[in-house]
Amino acid sequence: MKIGLLGAGSWGTALAQLLAENGHEILLWCYEPEVAHELNHDHTNRTYLPDISLVSTVRATIELEEVALWGPVVVSVLPSHVVRPIYRQLAPYLRPEHSIISCTKGIENGSLALMHQVIAEFFPWNERILALSGPSFAAEVVRHKPTAVVIASPNLVLGHEVQQIFATPWFRTYFNPDLLGVELCGALKNVMAIASGMVIGAELGVNAMAALITRGLHELTQLGLQLGARAETFSGLSGMGDLILTCTGTLSRNRGVGVRIGQGESLSDILASMTMVAEGVQTTRSARDLAHREGIEMPIVEQVFQVLHENKSLRQGLAELMVRRLRDEGGSRC
Ligand SMILES: NC(=O)c1ccc[n+]([C@@H]2O[C@H](COP(=O)([O-])OP(=O)(O)OC[C@H]3O[C@@H](n4cnc5c(N)ncnc54)[C@H](O)[C@@H]3O)[C@@H](O)[C@H]2O)c1
Repeated sequence: MKIGLLGAGSWGTALAQLLAENGHEILLWCYEPEVAHELNHDHTNRTYLPDISLVSTVRATIELEEVALWGPVVVSVLPSHVVRPIYRQLAPYLRPEHSIISCTKGIENGSLALMHQVIAEFFPWNERILALSGPSFAAEVVRHKPTAVVIASPNLVLGHEVQQIFATPWFRTYFNPDLLGVELCGALKNVMAIASGMVIGAELGVNAMAALITRGLHELTQLGLQLGARAETFSGLSGMGDLILTCTGTLSRNRGVGVRIGQGESLSDILASMTMVAEGVQTTRSARDLAHREGIEMPIVEQVFQVLHENKSLRQGLAELMVRRLRDEGGSRC
């Protein structure tokens, strides 16, 4: 099958490789012309996925419309802050027969829209928008490390077709009809990843890490239920699975940001030193705004927001978390 991909960062390149290895014909849209040139001539992407030789049938382009004209499937692997402008440009070339699989993990600042909701503004056949999410570091997928993810769509037939497109003996795909819940989990876990990095960087201990993952999942679940997500999604691959990966895995960039904050660096210095995106930094703002809008208490999200964006000290944020009014564990209040 002919598959176009948007975004040649780590994840887009890894998925292009996976799909090419699965026998599909791949066209990969790159933002940077030099990345496209390197992909086409050297079959590498040293900026975003070093030390990997790509299948020579992965072809790169910098012409956005070529991806839509290439075939019926578009795999969207852009950073969340560019999804809107890129789809605005792509919209005239999208057709009702396209299927769009969003692999981006984020919530747009301001609109507080999930990625399938942003894409739907430019692609009105919204039952053909799906998501791929779950615990999956690009660097492991390209090395054929066993990985399991979720394909989410309210459209059962399409969801099962897309499951087949991605599945390989090292990349197992499950189906989940809860598109909203799956996308929400994928975005919110990045906030907890930053918090987990803070725990590591400030040497707060493994008791704190276990408490963070558990109470973090509770916060995600409360917000998700309020927004209409299914409870089971939060204990699945895109929920608990991705939360465990990103809070414990050293490859997580969001966790890396938190580690450096915990060691005393400023957010602006950290971001200035990074080429790649750490989605959690912006998602923290959206998550906190969503919690306020929905009237859901998310104390960990709130403190991460204040430490990142309001210059609160980590020590102060932690103190406030620990002495909050005591609660029942399973209650709807966090
Ligand atoms: N890296 C992973 O292992 C992984 C795994 C699962 C999901 N994701 C998600 O996939 C999405 C993409 O992440 P990534 O790791 O591939 O990112 P990355 O940081 O590796 O790459 C960023 C990409 O954004 C592009 N870009 C930068 N500025 C742009 C602009 N103005 N317009 C268009 N494109 C621009 C760059 O060319 C590059 O392709 C994120 O939402 C991330 O959370 C990543």
